[in-house]
Parts: sequence; structure tokens; C-alpha cells
Amino acid sequence: MMNIAVLLAAGKGNRMNSEVPKQFLKLDGKMMIEYSLECFEKSKVVDGVVVVTGSDDVSLVKTITASYGKVLAVITGGAERYLSVVNALSYIKDNAECSTVMIHDSARPYIDEELLERLKEDTDRYGACIAAVPVKDTIKIADEDGFIASTPPRRTLYAAQTPQCFEFEMVYNAYNELVRKYGDNATVTDDAEVVEMMTGRRVKLTQGSYANNKITVPEDMQK
Ligand code: CTP
Ligand code: MG
Repeated sequence: MMNIAVLLAAGKGNRMNSEVPKQFLKLDGKMMIEYSLECFEKSKVVDGVVVVTGSDDVSLVKTITASYGKVLAVITGGAERYLSVVNALSYIKDNAECSTVMIHDSARPYIDEELLERLKEDTDRYGACIAAVPVKDTIKIADEDGFIASTPPRRTLYAAQTPQCFEFEMVYNAYNELVRKYGDNATVTDDAEVVEMMTGRRVKLTQGSYANNKITVPEDMQK
């Protein structure tokens, strides 16, 4: 039974405003998507990788991934992140013997092998976990008029990152249930939220890293 990494690279990167989707931009001479591919390739806890990308980019990604032995398939994503995840989980269901999955955004290139090991350990122990870090800023809840409604205590607040990791059957069923209920009108923004909504499972917050930022806007490309 395998631990499979799902590498999401089917976004268009609208906020990056670049010619090509941001996952294909170079950071320090290397394509953003390759940082994650390299980390998965080296990791002793990852057995296979399924890469999800836009229909226009499947052949490009097949070329990029040709030298990574763990890549099982390059498949087409959907219009929203969660629909790309659904495609990956369906592919895995039909084509692999998978016990756990690590769902990861190619827009977070700065993962490391130690993080993957902490996540695998917590997945085996708790069945569901995500990389997360305590927030450094004080967070405000806003009202409709842009005034502060309240201030949640900072020690209770974490910023969610990826990878987000789960027992395969559990997360597969959670996503199936989500799509059955909401079709393509769901508003979820991460995988943990799907598990929170659709199952009673508790999701562990695993120590992420402050380096593991998501690259979203052009400013994020600078070091
Ligand atoms: N993603 C995906 N399929 C989609 C949308 C997003 O696989 N339909 C992936 C992106 O490639 C990215 C990750 O999900 O690695 C996180 O999404 P985000 O940072 O929002 O990337 P984009 O959707 O590409 O950017 P934007 O929202 O600015 O268009
Ligand atoms: Mg997006």
C-alpha cells in the first residue's frame, strides 16, 4: 500500500499576472513545480506522485516529470482546486493501491523532507493532518463595514499550509460526498475543510515551516 503525493498544478495563477501559470516560472533558475517534485523524489515516506495540471499543459508537465521515477501519472485538473483534487483521488482509486495521500500545492515550493516525515507520522497516528504554523500577526474579524468585529486570541490561530495528509479511503469518501452535495458550487478552500465538513474526523495540526509560503502575487517571487 502506497503513500501517494498529489501535486496540484492546474491553477491559472491569475493573481500572479504572468504569461505562463506560476508553477512554470523559475525561482533561482529552477521551475517552481520542480522544487516539490525533487522533495517528493528524495523523500523516504513518498512512494508515488500524481501530478494534476491544466489540459493545455499536460504534455509540458510530462516532459518536466520524465526524469522523476516516482511520478505515476500526469492528469487533467478541474476549474477549481477542489475539483482538481477530486480528479486526482479518482485516478488513484482506479489505478493504485493507496493507503494515505499527501495533497500539496505546487505554489508552495519550499517544503522539506523533515516536514514530510512529520506529516507521515501524524497521518499514521491520527488519520488526518495538515502542515500549519502559528500566526505571527494579530488577526481581526471584520464586520460588513470594514470595522473590527472581534479579536480572536492569537494563541488559538494557525495558518494552514500544504501538504494536507489523510487516510486515502476517508478523504476519497469525504470529497465524493462533497461533490454529491454541492456539485461544482462548493466554496471550500482546503482539503481539511472538506474532511471537517463531511466527516466527524479530527484533523491534527502538524508543525509546518515559516519558509513554506504560498507564492501568490509577483512580490512573493522575491526572496
Ligand atoms: N490549483 C489546481 N486547480 C485549480 C486551481 C488551483 O490544481 N483549478 C492549484 C494551483 O496550481 C496551486 C494551488 O492549487 O498550486 C493553490 O492555488 P492558488 O495559489 O490559488 O493558485 P492559482 O489558482 O493558480 O492562482 P490564482 O488563484 O491567483 O488564479
Ligand atoms: Mg486559486
